Amino acid sequence: MSLPHGTHWGVIGCGVIGERRCLQLPVGVQISTCFDINHERAQRLAEKLGGTHGTTKVAATLEEFLATPGLEAVIIAAINSELVPLAQACLNKGLHILVEKPAARSIRELEQLKNPHGRIIKIGFNHRFHPAFERLHEELAKDPADPIMFIRAQYGNGARVGFENEWRAKIELGGGGELLDQGVHVLDLGAVLIPDLDVVAGYTRTHFWNMPVDDNTWAILRSPESGATFTFHVSSTEWKNEFRFEVYTRRCKYQWLGLGRSYGTERLLIHRMKPEMGPPESEEITFSKDDQSWLLENENFLGAIRRHLHVNGGLEDAVRALSLVEDIYQSSRRLQHGAKDHPRWYGDHETGMGASPFDRTPNETLADETSAEKLN
Ligand SMILES: NC(=O)c1ccc[n+]([C@@H]2O[C@H](COP(=O)([O-])OP(=O)(O)OC[C@H]3O[C@@H](n4cnc5c(N)ncnc54)[C@H](O)[C@@H]3O)[C@@H](O)[C@H]2O)c1
Repeated sequence: MSLPHGTHWGVIGCGVIGERRCLQLPVGVQISTCFDINHERAQRLAEKLGGTHGTTKVAATLEEFLATPGLEAVIIAAINSELVPLAQACLNKGLHILVEKPAARSIRELEQLKNPHGRIIKIGFNHRFHPAFERLHEELAKDPADPIMFIRAQYGNGARVGFENEWRAKIELGGGGELLDQGVHVLDLGAVLIPDLDVVAGYTRTHFWNMPVDDNTWAILRSPESGATFTFHVSSTEWKNEFRFEVYTRRCKYQWLGLGRSYGTERLLIHRMKPEMGPPESEEITFSKDDQSWLLENENFLGAIRRHLHVNGGLEDAVRALSLVEDIYQSSRRLQHGAKDHPRWYGDHETGMGASPFDRTPNETLADETSAEKLN
């Protein structure tokens, strides 16, 4: 198979996020091959990407995918239990990878990943690339003498009928519940602004969905150094999708509201306190309705490969976020089962059934369990 000139990437996992990412490619990049254990999904995506002109192929097997000539990098957007083995297969072939968050079901699993050819590993932390966050970051950097006192975040969606049957609801496939799913983004954002966060307390609970993983998690974290505090609630019973991320300094309150789409228009509100206090001076910045974060993150990945740019959201950030996730699960188990030491990971929270480390589920059962349309 000879390929046209350009930069050739492939995608493994052609569900909601694989597709979304591939439709937001930097100029000059094209997806030459798609692979999904659900062949129809790969076919559908290839057609959207130009398969009708023969430029995007569908690989029948992972081996065929990895043998694609001229492939430089791979987007890996399969279900959580498959992320590490797929990442490993690509790294062994010398391919750069952009692997979706949470990158693995646990730190233990992530630590098994080896990078024998020293390739770029980018983790899909697209929330870092939302313009409101970038602007918030810039505003905070303007005044280092006005440190963060605390951050309060809320992130959630209402899931969908049949959610309890999807891979996200199964410990062995998803690795955790809402905390590992949307919570990992919130933790990553918090840790960008307060890098030395550690967990004061966490509480996970399954309120609604009939599944052995959390559908709601609350947590308090803090910086031991500065005392900056971070609290959040993530939920898959948030009946009206919501994202809010609020940062308080001694002189300002910043509110990042919305992510576009079903999470509402993305906005940054800056409320500046006056010396005499009283009502602050407020400014509101509204961002484009289109969510550009996927494109910007893909561009960062390309820049890291081609121009040695800093990887914004790399492996060490996934390790940090997963470590906080595991500490929150641990804290919740302590709360619910007493102070004795519990294994660091998984399940066994209120209403949970308990969990053992993962037994791999045969691939042939996975296709039916993945979710087709969802989230936003
Ligand atoms: N960055 C974000 O904001 C964001 C949002 C949602 C999901 N995600 C992550 O993206 C990944 C995919 O989530 P999704 O919502 O697109 O799920 P999905 O169920 O829509 O898609 C997953 C796809 O992976 C395929 N798959 C499963 N095992 C495979 C294997 N071994 N080889 C090839 N394909 C395989 C499934 O058939 C399915 O088509 C997850 O890791 C999830 O955590 C990230």
